[in-house]
Amino acid sequence: MKQRDCVIIANGGAGGISFPARRRQGLIRAVSIGYGILTQGGSSIDAVVQAVTILEDVSVFNAGTGSSFNLEGEVEMDAAIMTGDRKFGAVGAITNVKNPIQTARFVMERTDHLLLCGDNAVRFARCMHQPFYDPRTREKKRIWRKARQDMKSDHFKRLCGLNELYGTVGVVAVDRKGLICVGTSTGGITLRLPGRVGDTPLPGAGTYADTHGGVSATGHGEEIMRNMIAFRAVSMMARYRAPVVGKKIMEHATDNRCQCGLVGIDRRGDVVCVYNTQGMSWCYIKKGRLRVFGTTND
Ligand code: GLY
Repeated sequence: MKQRDCVIIANGGAGGISFPARRRQGLIRAVSIGYGILTQGGSSIDAVVQAVTILEDVSVFNAGTGSSFNLEGEVEMDAAIMTGDRKFGAVGAITNVKNPIQTARFVMERTDHLLLCGDNAVRFARCMHQPFYDPRTREKKRIWRKARQDMKSDHFKRLCGLNELYGTVGVVAVDRKGLICVGTSTGGITLRLPGRVGDTPLPGAGTYADTHGGVSATGHGEEIMRNMIAFRAVSMMARYRAPVVGKKIMEHATDNRCQCGLVGIDRRGDVVCVYNTQGMSWCYIKKGRLRVFGTTND
């Protein structure tokens, strides 16, 4: 069988880019380790889970450790994984685990289901030997306190304007066998109502892959769900090349007031990396060459 070029791309969330140097460092580490797995013949599933795990462990990203707080000061996280042959696993509103992407992988590989939520997702994680872990950081507590003070009564309308308060991490990779895999993980939107589940763990909304390609979305989850951004972008990959898909999907998002960004890879191995928010941190490696946001040749 002909070996394919491996490619990996990651984003560290759409919105305002705080701590750019730490984000750059985290993204470079995540894609470099993921790329190493791919070039040694490892699967895109292993590369994506490892890269997302690294991003979940860096507290400047809104996923895993450093996830944003809900209205009551709790952390409820969402994560999903999907492959080009349409295997899927996800968790919604999961609490007290270190790496929700790993729980999502267990759902994909060890159950007949696609999505487990809330307390029962936590029980499942414990059965998979994922111990208790508190992902709340002091910095995210400070942001939550300030956001609560500033909050007006119409809190959902207000959330729409707070694009620095959402973010998500996402990784897409293709391995030597040509299998595409997408992983997405998020701490959701600051001050969301308890129990809210966003776009990330819903196939087609924040995470999607099929034989045409794979996409991980970031941004305002409610609008991403309404517009099925990941599915829409991957469907476009059947007809258009990656740069055209990027342009078309952002036109659609902007026309529909969907503040978002996405990263993806199509079946030819071309990457797409676009956003209509203030910024989005990203990094990819293709043909051994690394590119990262915020540098002179990005
Ligand atoms: N896109 C992340 C969220 O809205 O939960």
